[in-house]
Amino acid sequence: SQPQRIAFAIVTVSDTASAKTKEDLSGPAIHQLLIASKRFEADISSSVIIADESEEIKQTLLSLTDRVDVILTTGGTGFAPRDVTPEATKAVIERDCPGIVTALLMRSLQATPLAALSRLTAGIRGGTLIINLPGSPKAVKECFEVLEPILSHAVNLIK
Ligand code: MTE
Repeated sequence: SQPQRIAFAIVTVSDTASAKTKEDLSGPAIHQLLIASKRFEADISSSVIIADESEEIKQTLLSLTDRVDVILTTGGTGFAPRDVTPEATKAVIERDCPGIVTALLMRSLQATPLAALSRLTAGIRGGTLIINLPGSPKAVKECFEVLEPILSHAVNLIK
C-alpha cells in the first residue's frame, strides 16, 4: 500500500534567522528529513521563520492548527531569556503529549548531556500535533529518529 500522506508545517523560531543575520539550517534539515522519509509522504504546506516572540509564535501555531496534521517547531527551547517556544506552545495546546517529550529527551540524552537544557514540549490542538525540537540540525536529525516511526499512527489517531 501507498505510504500515508501527512501535511506538515515547519516553524523555525530564531531571532537571528528571522533577522537574516544567520542562515536557518534547522528548518531546511527538517524539510530534507521529511521529504526523504519512506514511512510517509510528506506534504510540507508551510515553512516559516519567526522571531523568539511569544505572541508571534502563538499566532503562527494557531493559524496552522487544523490546516496541517503536524507542526514541527525548531529553536527557542533552551534556558536563554528569549527562549519562549515551550511556553507559547503550552498556551495553545489542548492536550499534552508527555510520551513524545520523553522519547525525544531519551534519544537526545544519548547524544549529549546538554539535551537536559532543552525544555521542549509537545501537544495536540484540534486535529494538529505540535512538537518542539531544539534549534540545531544535529538535534533535529537525532529527534527525527524517534518521530519518524510514530508520526503516521499518531496522525491517524488524532483525526
Ligand atoms: N538535543 C539533541 N538531540 N542534540 C543536541 O545536540 N543540544 C542541546 C539541547 N538538545 C542538543 C539537544 C542544547 S546544547 C541546547 S542549548 C538545547 O537543546 C536548547 O536548544 P534551543 O534553544 O536551540 O532549542
